[in-house]
Formats: sequence, structure tokens, C-alpha cells
Amino acid sequence: MNILVLGSGGREHTFAWKLAQSPLCKALFVAPGNSGTAAIAVNLPIAVTDFKTIKKAVLDNDINIVVVGPEDPLVLGIHDFFLNDDALKSIKVIGPQKAAAELEGSKEFAKEFMISHNIPTATYQSFTASNLEDGYQFLETLKPPYVLKADGLAAGKGVLILDDLDDAKRELKEMLVDSKFGNASTKVVIEEFLDGIELSCFVLTDGINYKILPTAKDYKRIGEGDTGLNTGGMGAVSPVPFTTQEFLNKIENRIVKPTIEGLKKDNLPYVGFIFIGLIKVGDEPKVIEYNVRMGDPETEVVLPRLKTDLVEIFAAMGNQTLADIDLQIDERAATTVMLVSGGYPEAYEKGKEIIGLETITDSIPFHAGAKLKEDKVVTSGGRVMAITSFGETYNEAIKKSYQTIEKLCFDKMYYRKDIGFDL
Ligand code: AMP
Ligand code: GLY
Repeated sequence: MNILVLGSGGREHTFAWKLAQSPLCKALFVAPGNSGTAAIAVNLPIAVTDFKTIKKAVLDNDINIVVVGPEDPLVLGIHDFFLNDDALKSIKVIGPQKAAAELEGSKEFAKEFMISHNIPTATYQSFTASNLEDGYQFLETLKPPYVLKADGLAAGKGVLILDDLDDAKRELKEMLVDSKFGNASTKVVIEEFLDGIELSCFVLTDGINYKILPTAKDYKRIGEGDTGLNTGGMGAVSPVPFTTQEFLNKIENRIVKPTIEGLKKDNLPYVGFIFIGLIKVGDEPKVIEYNVRMGDPETEVVLPRLKTDLVEIFAAMGNQTLADIDLQIDERAATTVMLVSGGYPEAYEKGKEIIGLETITDSIPFHAGAKLKEDKVVTSGGRVMAITSFGETYNEAIKKSYQTIEKLCFDKMYYRKDIGFDL
């Protein structure tokens, strides 16, 4: 089979790495890709939202399966674009259609979906500029901290958590009236703060059946001890050690099953990954958010633990035969530590040569914001590379990642030295 992966991060390098191991994978393309994917696939210089050029590449290269990494093309309707085109409609797209992608594209849509299908989540109300005063009143009924969420996609920056009521009111006005997050904050969801430990659950579905992938936990803040600004993710571990079988059963029965059934009832066709952001409040799982794709860097710890052939899985998803797949998971723990450019998530420099890659033996380097310049690998983004390792325990795996990092460097390289500290 010929496969095209859309995206350019560590997540997409991990997809390509796993797909390339399959005897069923004849030719592998990544658009636009990075220095990591260049070594195992053909990179095509196409933006993930340039559907017309993607169509040409798909037809020119006889692609059978398109795997969509990031959310933007899904929310813009890439799957519908394929279904509505006679030349493309038989090609399998891994990623939901536009209507279901609203689970990530609109926080209000996601909340309404959860409430109507009895899926546990924080209580909420949503507001626009026309009922700003009602928003102030709703905030007054809540206890701090206050959680404000821009309704639309805001590149992971649209959630504010504020301790002070006056700050919350000011931010609400900035979001609604002053377009703090552009169009994404034309509507704002205000919700109850949930106090607990976060984890993520990843589900594969063909729209009829589902399979649950291993749990993972990512570390979003830039600073050690979970302090400082939010990032795309600074590291991850899988499995999440505090999840007992009883807790996993609760996640499956109260959240995963009603989500899949809800998609069917609401007539939302879904072939792809569902990433469920959870918070464990006491012993109860509650949903913080849905994403309609895999997480990054969670993919860098979840996929390496998958022993089943990923091409077989994707083909089964495309044919609605996922039920026939037997998911085999590596019992070992996997961890990843993200190397980032100094300054990230604020301004940072690019083009720094990454030294030491050829010395890596005990870890897998998944390239993210890294590209080839002549024959050198140089930085090209904030999150540069995820260093993944296996271990009998997550502590052993983390130790290996840090030992590998000792041998790597680039100018102003930064990483968190405490991944897994809270487990
Ligand atoms: P999101 O963009 O929805 O993933 O939210 C970003 C982060 O905000 C989450 O990972 C949580 O740490 C936090 N968060 C979101 N909603 C809540 C909530 N209701 N209570 C507590 N923390 C939350
Ligand atoms: N690591 C969080 C995300 O991919 O959204």
C-alpha cells in the first residue's frame, strides 16, 4: 500500500516510523515532513491545508491511505473533500469528517455532545459579546479558579485559568469584545474548575467499533514542577502508573462507549483517533476535552508500545473491520523527553545544528521542529526533538532518555529534567 502522512511534527515522524516497519507499506510519503521523516519516507513540500495540491500528490503517487496528523485539515474538512471528489472518494482517510471534527473545533459543540450523551464533564455555560453581562454573573456564581475557554481552535493557547474574579471578568471581556484569540474567542465557554490529576486516553474507531490504545500523560508547562507557560508538551509517559484496571473500566464504560454510541446516534461518521483529555477527580474520570487526532508528544510513547502492524490497523479502519484486529501492546513503559529551543514557547532562534544524533543507541529520536540543511540536521521550530526510551518501569525509561540527552546538544537547547516527577 502507498501511504501519505500529513504533518511535520514528532507525532508524524512516529507515524512514519511505525508505518515504515510494515511489510504492507510499499511507498511512504510525508507532507511536509521534517528531517526525521526524510530518512525513512519521501517528503513532499505541501502545506497540510492545501487540499488541491494534496489531491495532485495523492493521484500522482497512487496513494491508498491518507493519515491526517494535525487537527486543522480535519476541522477544515479534508475527509469531506476526499468523499466529494470522484477521483479521491475510494481513498481511505484516517481522520473524522468535518461535522465530527467539531468535537475539537468547537468547545461548545463538545460540551453539548457530552451533556446530551451523559458523559461526565465540568458544568459550563457559553457566552458571546451580546451577553457579556450574563457571563460576569455566571462567574460570580463560581468558586475560583475560573476556567475560560475560547470556543474555536487557538493553537492550544485558548484556555485561561484565573484565580481572581476581576481578572476573569477582564479576560472574558478581552476574549469576547477585543478578540483576544481572533475569531476563536467570538464565543467563550466558562466551566467549573476540576481539581485532579490529568491523563489521556486514545481510542481508534471505524465508526462502528473501537479499540483503546494505552493511556499516556503529557507535561504541558515549560518549567519544572509544572510551572510557567503552557507549551505543546514537554514530555510524556505511557502507561500512566496510577490507572488501575477498575479506573480503566470506568473510562471505557462511562466515557468511551457513550462517546462511540453518541457519534452513531448523532450521525457523525468517524474513522480515526479520538484523544480524550481526562482528569481524575477523586476516583472518577471526567472529560476535559476531545481532540480528533493523536496527541503530540503522547504519540511518541503510545505508538512505540503498539506491536500490531499499523498499516493493517488503518486498512481495517478504512474497511470498517476494526473489530477483527487484535491489538498487541508492549508491556514495557515508554517515556519521551522533548528538547526545545531556548525561549520557547515565546520567541526563539532557529537554524541551530543538532550535534550527537549518530551516538544514540538506547533511545529513539523523533524529530519535530528539525530539518535538513545540506547534510546537517538543524532546528526549525520550538519543539525540536522527542527522545523516547523503553524500560521495565517508567523510571528506567526516563533514565535512559536523560542518558541519551547527555550526548546531544544544540545552541540554547532546553528540556525539563523532571518528566514523571509527580507519578
Ligand atoms: P485544553 O486546551 O482544553 O486541553 O485545556 C488546557 C489545559 O487546561 C488542560 O490540559 C487542563 O490542564 C486545563 N483545564 C482545562 N479545563 C479545565 C477544567 N475544567 N478544570 C481544570 N483544569 C482545566
Ligand atoms: N499534547 C497535547 C496535544 O497534543 O494536544
